[in-house]
Order: sequence, then C-alpha cells, then structure tokens
Amino acid sequence: MSQSLGWKSWRAGAHRLLMRWGWDTRKLRKDRIVLEQVIFPAIHGDSKIQAILFIGCAWYTLHYPWMFHDRVFHTLEIDPAAAKYGSHRHIVGSCESLGAHFGTQELDCIIMNGVFGFGLDTPEALDKTLEGVHQVLRVGGLFVFGWNNLPAHAPFPPDEVVGWEHFEPIPFAPLGAAIYHSDPINQHRFQFYANRPALEVG
Ligand SMILES: C[S@@+](CC[C@H](N)C(=O)[O-])C[C@H]1O[C@@H](n2cnc3c(N)ncnc32)[C@H](O)[C@@H]1O
Repeated sequence: MSQSLGWKSWRAGAHRLLMRWGWDTRKLRKDRIVLEQVIFPAIHGDSKIQAILFIGCAWYTLHYPWMFHDRVFHTLEIDPAAAKYGSHRHIVGSCESLGAHFGTQELDCIIMNGVFGFGLDTPEALDKTLEGVHQVLRVGGLFVFGWNNLPAHAPFPPDEVVGWEHFEPIPFAPLGAAIYHSDPINQHRFQFYANRPALEVG
C-alpha cells in the first residue's frame, strides 16, 4: 500500500473508535460488502460453526472479532505489525504452517480472503496452506477462499495446485453458488468448500 504508516495508524485508531459507536466511515467495495453483510451473518447464524480462523489482518478488519464475539475467533497474519488488528487469540505466523498452531480438525470454519496474490504467491505456498487447512478443519467444515483474478494479484491460476482435492465445492446458501463473482471491478470472487475426509492411503 502506498499509504504512510502515520496515516494508517491514524485511520486504524479512528476506525476502532468510531466503530464502537456503530459509525463505519470506510468506503466499501462490493466484495467487502458481500463478505461483511452476507457471508459473515450466514456463518454467524450457523450454530455448528463455533471455532473460526480468519487469515490476514488489516486496519479495516480490526472489528471482525467483535462481530464474532460469542465464538472462538482466531486470527493469523504473517506481519507482526498487523497483530494489533487481530483478535485476542491472534497468531503471528504464516498460513503455510497451520498445523503448528491448531490441532487436527480443531476448527469449524477458515476464511482466507485476499491472501493469495498478496504475499501467498507460489504454487508450493498455496499447496502447503491447503494441506494445513485440510488438517485443522473438521470434516465438513467450511473453507472460504477469496481472491482477485487480476494479473497483479493472481500469480498463477490457484486451481492448478493438487491440494484442492481435499475439498468439495459447495453452494453457499445465501449466495446460491460455490463460486461467487462479487465485484467486476477488482475481479474478486469467493469460493466455498467443505473439507473432505482424509484420503485413504494404500
Ligand atoms: C490484502 S490483505 C487482506 C487482509 C484481509 N484478509 C482481508 O480480508 O482484506 C493481505 C494480508 O495477507 C497477509 N499475508 C500474506 N501472506 C501471508 C501468509 N503466508 N500467511 C499469513 N498472512 C499472510 C499480508 O501480510 C496482508 O496483511
């Protein structure tokens, strides 16, 4: 981002304060509106989803833990400077190492939006991440993958990696699709998956 550190901390402070009073001064793109006003309420409305991991934190996501205050809401972000935007269960680390932070099938839902193509940029890194998601998400658990199909943020077609074999595309009820094109301007899409049982070996 081209914004200065001073501007960012001022903006984060203002957002934290104003959101406490229910005043959202962010200018939201369509994909963010879908995430916050459609996807989050549907996830929150599902009582089977109690343990959630949100990957990648920024000043404009700092209120997400408040939206899931009655759930076990983990956040994980590779940049230590962004820890202040995470939940009280925040982890500084890479999504490539989820197995180091969570037990097998510990989570009911993992949301990874805007991380692929924003630092998670190689097939190896995405594949390792998918292996970790598969390991720490319960069977049938929900994986939400949001990304931008733009040259600057799609270093390779993400469906090229084998790790997707662990997941079953599922229509997300409120959007009626397993792949939802949320914003034509930034070519953002959300993809929804259920975690499959571990593959049998032999
Ligand atoms: C564009 S922001 C997206 C933030 C948020 N997830 C959202 O919905 O907008 C991308 C974030 O992903 C983080 N990131 C990049 N690679 C990562 C990795 N391997 N593990 C965890 N976070 C990573 C970056 O540091 C950055 O804060």
